[in-house]
Amino acid sequence: MTEVVSAVSSGADRGLDVEAIRREFPALHQEVHPGKPLVYLDSAATALKPQSVIDAVVSVYAQDCANIHRAVHALSQRATARYEAAREKVVRFLGAESREEIVFTSGTTDGLNLVAMAFANPAWDRCLGEGDEVLVTELEHHSDIVPWQLLCARTGATLRVVPITPAGEVRLEDFQAKLNEHTKVVAFAHVSNSLGTVLPVKAMAELAHQVGALVVVDGAQGVVHARVDVQDLGADFYAFSGHKIYGPTGIGALYGKRALLEAMPPWRGGGDMIDRVSFAGSTWNDLPYKFEAGTPNIAGVIGMGAAIDYMEGLGLEAIAAHEARLLAYGTKRFAELDGVRLIGTAEPKAGVLAFVMDGIHPTDAGSFLDADGVAIRTGHHCAQPVMDHYGVTGTARASLGVYNTEADLDALIEGLKKVQSIFG
Ligand code: ALA
Repeated sequence: MTEVVSAVSSGADRGLDVEAIRREFPALHQEVHPGKPLVYLDSAATALKPQSVIDAVVSVYAQDCANIHRAVHALSQRATARYEAAREKVVRFLGAESREEIVFTSGTTDGLNLVAMAFANPAWDRCLGEGDEVLVTELEHHSDIVPWQLLCARTGATLRVVPITPAGEVRLEDFQAKLNEHTKVVAFAHVSNSLGTVLPVKAMAELAHQVGALVVVDGAQGVVHARVDVQDLGADFYAFSGHKIYGPTGIGALYGKRALLEAMPPWRGGGDMIDRVSFAGSTWNDLPYKFEAGTPNIAGVIGMGAAIDYMEGLGLEAIAAHEARLLAYGTKRFAELDGVRLIGTAEPKAGVLAFVMDGIHPTDAGSFLDADGVAIRTGHHCAQPVMDHYGVTGTARASLGVYNTEADLDALIEGLKKVQSIFG
């Protein structure tokens, strides 16, 4: 995400028309309480959806409502064509080499579990065993910790953890110190959901590859905030979710290098993932279908494709520059507040402002802000080890999307001042 910084400094921001963008998001135009219009600052939890995404999903159910890959009738042909066209969009969006490398999943969590469980399967020659090590960082989301814990419990491998700095950064020397010839997998976020830290993915991947480990990237927050090129980053696997990129919930994609996906055994069995089934044994469909058992979330895939179109239409660099500018503005405004500490001050950082307030529980702050129409997330953000690191049970977190404005951040800051005055 050095791209964010360079997009600003190079003037790559074409200057988004944020008011026009806001008109495309119906959910923004409501009062959440009488006289309190919505100020949505929770896009890291899920982004709001533009009308084009909503229309794409509705049109699947209204016109092209059929199963895919299974029938010659017109509706099925149309649904299949739209589903596979969305795959091509993901190929382009991630900079993958081919459509065989893109597996549709139910989201980042599903993608990470798919990869983790492959490492527990003796049918793969990369199956882990005792003495092998899996390396994650301290800032991971639970979905990039627990699947690896489950893997280790099944295989006898050991989970090791790279510590973060007080700013919430992962230093390359700390990462390198944990790598050795036993490290078989390293898994880490592109961007931390709880801190906003942008990790040096490319450099980490290079170091991991030097010891022969495979690199799994949790891209849930990464794809939203910068242009991703999985080949340039050196990721062996990269997982993301549709709902964070202004698409539907319950859908996502996993990128995997073709040779790896070819060698990996399937994760789930069912329809569409097979070549031939008999009671003597079954054989598998070609990539990527080998990993797509059962009727998929067809409307979700097509809606996610529409979300990619939406983001690319605005310009990924322009979105990144807009969010970087808002983050800088929000960070400056937070400095006005006494008794408020930002949690996560890494460089570079993406659009997350997490904080704790002296004497005020995050949930209370969140509830009082909600009464004013300001939506943020509070709690541990599915990253309890991060909370442990900072010695807090939770934080309040404002997170940015393409539709946010300086006025939204002003509303947040004024709301927090009000909360402080209520709590004395
Ligand atoms: N992982 C999402 C978040 O950070 C749900 O809020």
